[in-house]
Amino acid sequence: MKARIILDRDYKVGQIDRRLFGSFIEHLGRAVYGGIFEPGHPTADARGFRRDVLALVRELGVPVVRYPGGNFVCSFDWEDSVGSVESRPRRLDLAWRSVEPNLFGLNEFMAWAKEAGTEAMMALNLGTRGVDAARNLVEYCNHPGGSYWSDLRISHGFREPHGIRLWCLGNEMDGPWQVGQKTADEYGRLANEAAKAMRLFDPSLELVACGSSFAAMPTFPDWEATVLGHCYEQVDYLSLHSYYENRAGDLPEYLADSIGMGEFIDSVASACDFVKSKKRSRKTMMLSFDEWNVWFHTNADDRHADPWRVGPRLLEESYTFEDALVVGCLLLTLLKRADRVKIACLAQLVNVIAPISTVEGGPAWKQTIFYPFLHASRYARGLSLDLRIEAPTYESRRFGTVPYLDAAATVDSAEGEMAVFAVNRSLSEAVEVELRLGGYESWSVNERIVLASADPKAVNTAARPDAVLPRRIADGAGIEGGMLRTRLEPLSWNVIRLSAPQK
Ligand code: AHR
Repeated sequence: MKARIILDRDYKVGQIDRRLFGSFIEHLGRAVYGGIFEPGHPTADARGFRRDVLALVRELGVPVVRYPGGNFVCSFDWEDSVGSVESRPRRLDLAWRSVEPNLFGLNEFMAWAKEAGTEAMMALNLGTRGVDAARNLVEYCNHPGGSYWSDLRISHGFREPHGIRLWCLGNEMDGPWQVGQKTADEYGRLANEAAKAMRLFDPSLELVACGSSFAAMPTFPDWEATVLGHCYEQVDYLSLHSYYENRAGDLPEYLADSIGMGEFIDSVASACDFVKSKKRSRKTMMLSFDEWNVWFHTNADDRHADPWRVGPRLLEESYTFEDALVVGCLLLTLLKRADRVKIACLAQLVNVIAPISTVEGGPAWKQTIFYPFLHASRYARGLSLDLRIEAPTYESRRFGTVPYLDAAATVDSAEGEMAVFAVNRSLSEAVEVELRLGGYESWSVNERIVLASADPKAVNTAARPDAVLPRRIADGAGIEGGMLRTRLEPLSWNVIRLSAPQK
């Protein structure tokens, strides 16, 4: 089949915030214990950080990591996780029905984040706690010294403040599963008061209020309007969470989920703009899609099978090639909404619904979804361009007409680099693409990467970590008269990198 993409220097979505390629580490399952932290592992450093995992996290290039939850944070006492390890209590974590030994806590995470070359997005407990814990935590983390909480940090061996800029005001506070669930009015008031206290400490902090836990929540989007009615002027971002699944085994429907993601973003943006109008505000609320991924192979309720263990096996998805394609489509949607979505976190990073998996005492490896994320985080730079795509379509039960070809493009003019990302959703047919490069006629292709697999159900495992691997294609994308022509294989994720002519 044939398709056309028109790209033009003057059609822009907006500047991409690097934090669009963030991720998430929660005290859940083996994300921390047996994931990023495993004292005694052959690659562990003196602090117990697995160096093999650190190398993969660095390779993935995540600029920000949300921590420590998730549902976990809603009944977490941060004070338990600092000070000498011997003095820290073992606690029951009700969210995941596990034991939290507090061997790895706030300061360890900050040290790990530094090693990983990433920033923290710190989540506060607004489930069982409130303004007091929030103001104390921010003082502990960010004040240079000379006050009770900052001096306590210094006494814990961290003279320099952590300087955490980005904070989540709770997590999924509308969820009936949440410890300390709130109504929209209760949460909106609490978020406003916590934010006010934090801003009295430092007005420049970036604060994220909780949106609905997912689009199908019965309270969506009233929750957004009510919460922001209370805290609009105090916060910078509203959160979105969404996980996608293929329980029905219907791949064309599954590949259309990125359309649903786009509609969800548009609805949340509309709810924010409604409050903006109501308040006659000059401020536009930006969005933080701080939990997104594919999640359905494991059962979330396996936490009931064998509770009260440290680092149990929970939510350990084995991702197929199909899942990687869907992750690719979701990344295209985030890039196409980069004017409004400034932060996004692939949930999660290690072992738990993650692109990186580990064996205790053994290797770490890359799941299939590692690759599209890596390509986007590495090559999507600068401006997101507003493409016009004309492609054959199919009908989806939930989303109507879906194009077989989906694409996004980014350009970093200062560096002279452009990247075109594209997915062919067709199960059987290649797409012959003509891409018009308006304003970039003299640019040339320097690399083409394809992720495809003869077996859509192929997975990477510890024993076969390379079953699904991207490959570089030397030929197949030529430019003539400002038109790039290429062929995209059926069911494939593609990256075409272009460079400006040498000066
Ligand atoms: O990422 C796993 C869980 O999914 C998080 O703890 C929660 O916020 C969401 O429901």
